[in-house]
Amino acid sequence: MSYATLPKAELHMHIEGSFEPELMFNIAERNGIALPYDSVEALKAKYDFNNLQDFLDIYYQGCAVLLNEQDFYDLAWAYLLKAKEDHIVHTEIFFDPQSHTDRGITFDTVINGFYRAFKDGEAQLGITFRIIACFLRHLPEQAGFDIYPDILRHKDKIIGVGLDSSEVGHPPEKYQRLFQQAKKDGFKIVAHAGEEGPAEYIWQAIDLLEVDRIDHGNRCLDDEKLVQTIVDKGLALTVCPLSNLKLCVVDELKNHPIKAMLAKDLKATINSDDPAYFGGYINDNFRQLKQAVGLSDTEVKQLIINSFEASFLSKQEIDKHLKNVNDQAD
Ligand code: ADE
Ligand code: ZN
Repeated sequence: MSYATLPKAELHMHIEGSFEPELMFNIAERNGIALPYDSVEALKAKYDFNNLQDFLDIYYQGCAVLLNEQDFYDLAWAYLLKAKEDHIVHTEIFFDPQSHTDRGITFDTVINGFYRAFKDGEAQLGITFRIIACFLRHLPEQAGFDIYPDILRHKDKIIGVGLDSSEVGHPPEKYQRLFQQAKKDGFKIVAHAGEEGPAEYIWQAIDLLEVDRIDHGNRCLDDEKLVQTIVDKGLALTVCPLSNLKLCVVDELKNHPIKAMLAKDLKATINSDDPAYFGGYINDNFRQLKQAVGLSDTEVKQLIINSFEASFLSKQEIDKHLKNVNDQAD
């Protein structure tokens, strides 16, 4: 049994974080935008981060070359080809609308480009998808309310809302009213919590935002009562090992807590977060993590089963995927 060829779902991937430098230069050139780097190599040399903010500064700069619907399409399509190579059969992707609308790009340009690519991916590559719109937590809650009518207008394309960007200093409680509204309107709720921020932020994501899933969640391990609550509620964690390494959430991959999470019955999943920036897509995450911490076949299979069980697919669709995993894993 190999993780590499088993069908799997990805639940934590920022589509803007799959922007490979080569494609970035390509799109910059066709849009007549000068990147502040001479070459792909010079840009890649900047991918050496000490923390989340170091990364976000570069990530938002990359977003700035995306102008037209076709740019958003091309970005998503490039990810889908990588996903296919890694045997991803279902993906639930994030996008950051405010990082585009704040530059004067219309919401419709962004969502229509992404959506068209994912519909083509479904038809041509057999990869199903869900789209989650994230609010940038370094901005005021009101900025989220300002963009919210656009998200609601595209509810046929967007299954849920999330919370990302700079975590520390921007606790979930700051966004409680916005997420209450989204919940009332029938959106699924997720939030980055406990990546750099403390366990308290995870409590808030659960109690105040009423999340359906926790993105990252590493810091729950600091609080036994929190771990028990997450397990009891059956909330999944979308864990991102190479991201954790590159953003110094863990010092070395061999110290990644994935085995401890599974041993505590936490429903952990493996995801690539921002693969173009962190050195690998989902199979790279499995490969390097397996090598570093020695995941057993049982643990690998559990992580893959979790990826479907924690998805926003219907029970019937989940069961179909689990049967395929079980058939191929034996
Ligand atoms: N935006 C893109 N990647 C992110 C991450 N890992 N944490 C928070 N915000 C993000
Ligand atoms: Zn993320």
